[in-house]
Amino acid sequence: MIKELITKTRSYRRFEESYAIKREELLELVDCARLSASAGNRQPLKFLLANTSELNNKIFPHLAWAGYLKDWDGPQAGERPSAYVILLCDTQVHPNADCDHGIASQSIMLAATEKGLGGCIIASIKRDALRRDLGIPPHLEILLVLALGLPVEKVALEEVQPGGDIRYWRDADAVHHVPKRRLEDIIL
Ligand SMILES: Cc1cc2nc3c(=O)[nH]c(=O)nc-3n(C[C@H](O)[C@H](O)[C@H](O)COP(=O)(O)O)c2cc1C
Repeated sequence: MIKELITKTRSYRRFEESYAIKREELLELVDCARLSASAGNRQPLKFLLANTSELNNKIFPHLAWAGYLKDWDGPQAGERPSAYVILLCDTQVHPNADCDHGIASQSIMLAATEKGLGGCIIASIKRDALRRDLGIPPHLEILLVLALGLPVEKVALEEVQPGGDIRYWRDADAVHHVPKRRLEDIIL
């Protein structure tokens, strides 16, 4: 059921880093993005795949994790992602990606959940440094990084009341709580 899959597709930020994700699995995920909607069917997205410690170590330092958790700097060694998919806009195809990268990201995240994986969409990226360290050419605009792995954290969805705090938080058992607005509060 699609609602069950969407509900299971949470943002995970702690993983079993020793769990390997094969390049073939990443290709299957990107194939789901390839089949997704694209504004004007222009398909300007390109995808950079990483699943080796050498590449992963070049990507990780350029990402910012969980901005609301002020006393947490992101996953420690051993709990870092096993793989990344970097979404790029090929400006030689079209100057912008419209909403394509959001749609592609969700397709990838849903497909990852179906495979028993999890991850996090990351927009808070030190783009210039990432471009330099990966040698990404100037015509490819860095849009989003998807961090992927075998999740080791528990995420709990909860309802937020009108005027309530939408910031996610972690409890003493490191359960990550995500407040979602209620259906009746988002319908006009
Ligand atoms: C476009 C976009 C950018 C995001 N950027 C970041 C980010 O830079 N760092 C991060 O830790 N999480 C990031 N997230 C994850 C959100 O924080 C997360 O979706 C939100 O807290 C709700 O949790 P949920 O995905 O489990 O519903 C991003 C999500 C989206 C959709």
